Amino acid sequence: MKTVLAIESSCDETAVAIAKGTREILCSEIASQVEIHQPYGGVVPELASRNHNLAIRHVLASALESAGLTLPEIDAVAATAGPGLASSLLVGDTTGKAIAIGLGKPFYSINHIEGHLLSPFIGDEKGIRPCVALVVSGGHTLLVDIRDVSDYEVLGSTKDDAAGEAFDKVGKMLELPYPGGPEIDQLSREGNSTTYDFPRSMIDSGDFQFSFSGLKTAVFYQLQKLPEPVPSDLLPDLCASFQEAVVDVLVAKTLAAARTTNRNLVTVSGGVSCNSRLRKKMTEACDSAGFELKIATPHHSTDNAAMIAFAAAAQIESGVAPSALDTDVNPNLAIQ
Ligand code: KG4
Ligand code: ZN
Repeated sequence: MKTVLAIESSCDETAVAIAKGTREILCSEIASQVEIHQPYGGVVPELASRNHNLAIRHVLASALESAGLTLPEIDAVAATAGPGLASSLLVGDTTGKAIAIGLGKPFYSINHIEGHLLSPFIGDEKGIRPCVALVVSGGHTLLVDIRDVSDYEVLGSTKDDAAGEAFDKVGKMLELPYPGGPEIDQLSREGNSTTYDFPRSMIDSGDFQFSFSGLKTAVFYQLQKLPEPVPSDLLPDLCASFQEAVVDVLVAKTLAAARTTNRNLVTVSGGVSCNSRLRKKMTEACDSAGFELKIATPHHSTDNAAMIAFAAAAQIESGVAPSALDTDVNPNLAIQ
């Protein structure tokens, strides 16, 4: 079983993890830059890459320390190749390649989405199995049929905003701190989701495509009718009504995809899978439809390197060859 060290730096988290094959994650360290980007209401690419550069050595050292390992004990090195911010990706990619060259060990370029896709299987003794996978993050909303490691079919994706992006943009309209997703989740707990009737875009489109920009616009028009700034006692109902519209579409399309592909296992991953309402409604829907459901743990939902180490270990175990050292990063890397 190979010991794999992985680096993830595609956006604003500098992360290093070490996996013992697909069996065990020995450590998973994350240095978040959220406070650095918060004043700007979003990730500033140049600030992100410069701070990855400052953090990477420390995160690497603390990962090795918490795993109780030294670099020569690593069998393979992996880094996220994309999608993401080019200048951020380059920090992890270059550091990973430098370590691999220094150690004379193989290097694996890993697709960030594949990391999210496989993350619900981390710690699962039954291993990676065919399923319908929903990936919902700040950058992606995808329904994927997972047949095997490296054998994926994208069933549908978003035509405009990603689910997490919609949460963050609505959070910005409501003047909530960045990122808006966790704030909206929290405020919704006290709110009534039926107060505002927001659209469930494309819920009956008969395919697996998503669209969230119309919903975002509907929230914008609703806000025009309210005093500015929005009185804080209206926020819980606004948040709950918006969140319910997103969750209804995600649940309906995921279950339809599982029925169409005849899969009896459904997985959910990516930052938005932390959402408490999505977790509850997806669990209830899968229970009543008789599907098994696996949702990534909160630590493995938002960006982390454990999922990159796990994906690399899964590739190694299924015989995938290492990547060439001149493999470029690709901000728009697709899953197929
Ligand atoms: O997977 P991730 O860390 O980064 C990307 O690959 O994009 O996802 C970040 C996204 C952000 O849009 C954030 O607002 C959202 O995940 N998010 C949530 C929650 N926690 C994180 N959205 C809704 N509810 C949450 N509890
Ligand atoms: Zn991500």
